[in-house]
Amino acid sequence: MKLLREQLFYLSILTTCFLPLLAPSAGADVKPQKENYEPDYTTYHNVSSLETEIQRLTKRYSDFIQLNNNYKSSAGQSQLVFRVSNFSSIAGSLKGKVRIFLSFGEHAREFFPVESMLHFIKNITDGVSQDTNKTEGLKFSSWVLNNFDIIIIGMANPDGRVYIEKTQNYCWRGTESGVDINRNFNWNFGGQGSSSNPLDGEYRGPHAFSEPETEVFQNISSIFVPDAFVSFHSGVRHIYIPFADSESKQGRRFPANKVLLVRLARHISRSSPSRLFKFGHAYDLTGYTADGTSFDFMAGHAKIPFSLAIELWEHRHHRGRSCFDEFNPENEDLQVGLAIFEWIFEK
Ligand SMILES: *[C@@H]1O[C@H](CO)[C@@H](O)[C@H](O)[C@H]1NC(C)=O
Ligand SMILES: *[C@@H]1O[C@H](CO)[C@@H](O)[C@H](O)[C@H]1NC(C)=O
Ligand SMILES: *[C@@H]1O[C@H](CO)[C@@H](O)[C@H](O)[C@H]1NC(C)=O
Ligand SMILES: *[C@@H]1O[C@H](CO)[C@@H](O)[C@H](O)[C@H]1NC(C)=O
Ligand SMILES: *[C@@H]1O[C@H](CO)[C@@H](O)[C@H](O)[C@H]1NC(C)=O
Ligand SMILES: [Zn+2]
Repeated sequence: MKLLREQLFYLSILTTCFLPLLAPSAGADVKPQKENYEPDYTTYHNVSSLETEIQRLTKRYSDFIQLNNNYKSSAGQSQLVFRVSNFSSIAGSLKGKVRIFLSFGEHAREFFPVESMLHFIKNITDGVSQDTNKTEGLKFSSWVLNNFDIIIIGMANPDGRVYIEKTQNYCWRGTESGVDINRNFNWNFGGQGSSSNPLDGEYRGPHAFSEPETEVFQNISSIFVPDAFVSFHSGVRHIYIPFADSESKQGRRFPANKVLLVRLARHISRSSPSRLFKFGHAYDLTGYTADGTSFDFMAGHAKIPFSLAIELWEHRHHRGRSCFDEFNPENEDLQVGLAIFEWIFEK
């Protein structure tokens, strides 16, 4: 129990790092629309600059970041899986660290979470960089690196992003062939909160785990045995507690660790500026159900004690059918949206 309390404390603070300062994604229409604004790839990263940047950081900070290039998409693109920790801290003590598993970029059109991932990792590496002179930064980075063992899927669905770069269809959500990998998991797979229609944004694929992009989720959950999993999205500002699937909604099913999960979600929400983030069971917070999701799988099947999905950003007055602006800030607002750390230590 003491361990759990400690984990809860660490987890809530760490997870808070991803919340930014600033219409649900259901019924997803993925046809191209006239956009109000589009990403400028000198501000936003594209697939190639993301990969370059992660490779650069993992080379330069090899004591703290290890890249695993074995996990690839259907088209053979790296999913940018890397592990962040102080690997030299007290030999063999990686075991005592809180193990966190974070997933970004499951949905192609949600660029913002992937930028958050990069912002976070840069914050950590800037802190330990010899070039900078920020004691505050070093303190924070050391705290994270010495207490956590973090595995990150930096870009779960690179093919979907490549598809968007090729077509400029910013409504695209799935893989290149249109499978929503966040409906492809073995948890109430095939339920009504997903689609059997390959043209639908929530197309679940022919069977559970049909997509190679999901292998990394299965392997890490069983090999790494995480204490916590978080799947990051954008479109609203919500913190979802499992479950999201239609069967759970019907039976009001909760994960085993409900009490602590609610406490964690509440803590994260209260730490967010102006308590912007709503939290609750996914099927209560949204007007829809989602079957076969990664975070339900992690909670229900892989039995990871703390599993959440967090939607990081919303356009408060979004109207119409344009997509890029529904899920991502304008180029000039991206940095403000990402400037997420300032308020954590204000408490
Ligand atoms: C990706 O963005 C960079 C700028 O960061 C640009 O030089 C490059 O051409 C872009 N790559 C593609 C494939 O669009
Ligand atoms: C994932 O796990 C399976 C089963 O243990 C293994 O065969 C496969 O090589 C693993 N994938 C990677 C990329 O390590
Ligand atoms: C990593 O761990 C080693 C050994 O415990 C320690 O000397 C070093 O200061 C740590 N690095 C950081 C950045 O905290
Ligand atoms: C680094 O810190 C030292 C001591 O606080 C200070 O004198 C120096 O100006 C700082 N250098 C930079 C580049 O900020
Ligand atoms: C990273 O974020 C923490 C938390 O807000 C902050 O204290 C630290 O200074 C940041 N590090 C750098 C290098 O900006
Ligand atoms: Zn999403």
